[in-house]
Amino acid sequence: MKIAGSVAVITGGARGIGLALAKSLAAAGAKVVLGDILEEPLRQSVRGIQRAGGEAAAVVADVTRDEDVQRLMDTAVERFGAINVVCANAAIISDGLMLIRDSATGTVSRVLTTDAFRGVLEVNVVGAFVTLREGARRMVDNGWSGVLVVVSSVNKGGQLGQINYSSTKAAVALWPKILVGEFHMCGIRNIRVVGLAPG
Ligand SMILES: NC(=O)c1ccc[n+]([C@@H]2O[C@H](COP(=O)([O-])OP(=O)(O)OC[C@H]3O[C@@H](n4cnc5c(N)ncnc54)[C@H](O)[C@@H]3O)[C@@H](O)[C@H]2O)c1
Repeated sequence: MKIAGSVAVITGGARGIGLALAKSLAAAGAKVVLGDILEEPLRQSVRGIQRAGGEAAAVVADVTRDEDVQRLMDTAVERFGAINVVCANAAIISDGLMLIRDSATGTVSRVLTTDAFRGVLEVNVVGAFVTLREGARRMVDNGWSGVLVVVSSVNKGGQLGQINYSSTKAAVALWPKILVGEFHMCGIRNIRVVGLAPG
């Protein structure tokens, strides 16, 4: 696709891979809209892209909150008039073994908590789902062509100490196949879906 002039929405764009992607797309002429929960780093990232001559906007948005994701997408449309790239990049880790044994007694002394498991699913799976859904519905309704980007990980293969994170990255790795099939079924021809697995 033509990157120059396109509009890219990237969650988790305040730092790391999301920010690197944003800088690279902005340098190639895309307008980038970054969402993140880290308010000050988000603003600094946008200022950095603008100083380098790029066009960028920021929205403080938590991907686990539908209304935040809707505001992120609406801001992209209001500021730049379209959405062509949606990158569901925001993710967290909360590593730990499911069971830890006490070395003296051999009994279980600690477990990976339900909150530590559910919290990672909430951001990495539910948040990514809402991000792609809210971006894609606007693309379909307005006939904007582009691509949805799913961010998995090499750890989708099953990393010890990451039963929660690996599960989320295995889950999202299925989505390009599912969504491309669903779009084909519905006659949606303007949106491609790709997956990345960094690491
Ligand atoms: N860095 C790696 O080596 C690596 C390897 C494999 C996969 N990945 C994947 O690449 C993506 C980016 O990783 P990274 O290393 O840049 O991570 P990072 O922690 O540096 O950046 C993630 C960003 O997501 C934001 N975020 C977290 N929870 C959020 C929420 N609820 N709503 C909105 N934003 C939220 C964080 O504030 C942060 O800015 C992730 O999906 C990660 O799983 C990274």
